Amino acid sequence: MNAHELANGDRMPLLGLGTWKSKPGRVRAAVAEAIRIGYRHVDCAPIYGNEAEVGVGLALAFERGEVERDDVWVTSKLWSDSHAPEHVEPALRRTLEDLRLDRLDLWLVHWPVAFRNGLRYPRRAEDFHAPDDVPLVETWAAMEACVEAGLCRHIGVSNFNVRRLADLLAGCRIPPAVDQVERHPYLQQRDLLEFCRENGVFVTAYSPLGSPDRPAHLLADGEPPLLEDPVVVEVAADRRVTPAQILIRWAVERGTSVIPKSVNPGRIRQNLSAVDLELEEEELRRLDALDRGQRYIDGTFWEIDGGPVTAADLWA
Ligand code: A2P
Repeated sequence: MNAHELANGDRMPLLGLGTWKSKPGRVRAAVAEAIRIGYRHVDCAPIYGNEAEVGVGLALAFERGEVERDDVWVTSKLWSDSHAPEHVEPALRRTLEDLRLDRLDLWLVHWPVAFRNGLRYPRRAEDFHAPDDVPLVETWAAMEACVEAGLCRHIGVSNFNVRRLADLLAGCRIPPAVDQVERHPYLQQRDLLEFCRENGVFVTAYSPLGSPDRPAHLLADGEPPLLEDPVVVEVAADRRVTPAQILIRWAVERGTSVIPKSVNPGRIRQNLSAVDLELEEEELRRLDALDRGQRYIDGTFWEIDGGPVTAADLWA
């Protein structure tokens, strides 16, 4: 499969199976099926609440002899309650145990937000750490130590804007390999992409289909569903493929890796075959023209009265 080559020669397949919102009970079969038909990249996180089951799906694929461990790229993320340096490696070891792996290919800082260890989400302003109490550079240094210990091959970030990436690049020994951010034709983040390109940071696009199954508290009235966009639908009809396939191919054509989530075998297969579609430059340009700054995962769920995080600051 098409892949992005990292500085050390490792190759990250451009299409990965997303697992956010994949329910326990469905995700094991989804992972096993995806690998069986040719996926070689799975994107996970402990906060998704399903890593142990993803691990069973991976183990199944290895047992069946469909793939070797080295042939599958596995990404996971450091949750925001474990940014204090002493919690970093234990968090990675829990993820590895759940995933039944002895190393990750890529480990990301999930959000540039830190709060008290042991919480899933902060409830009160006091639950957050002030940036000076747990500086990101210290979290990062602990992650670098995990690379050196052989527990993960690459480290990166997620939901980082240009300002935070620039700060990190200035203060790191091992530069971030990836910034995983929301990206689709409605939210193209061109400045961020340009900055990443100039600085050797690869971008992974999350919620590439507009995350239509995002939880109720992230659904706002009047947000247009990307999969129903008239231009996307029309290009798909012209090509005799589905809107989802157009969005996946667009992401790859525009130089990112992409992690559509599905637990449906037919759609898992459909999304895989999208990688090989060919789109004309004219079609790609029509999709480029849809940019409207539409964020589905807007970060407002971090805003707590008196707390240090605002959505405006996350993306500014
Ligand atoms: P399902 O898991 O039932 O297939 P995103 O990756 O942007 O978060 O979007 C995930 C959502 O899109 C899920 O609701 C998923 O449903 C749905 N989805 C995944 N692939 C397709 C597809 N090919 N066509 C339509 N919907 C899809």
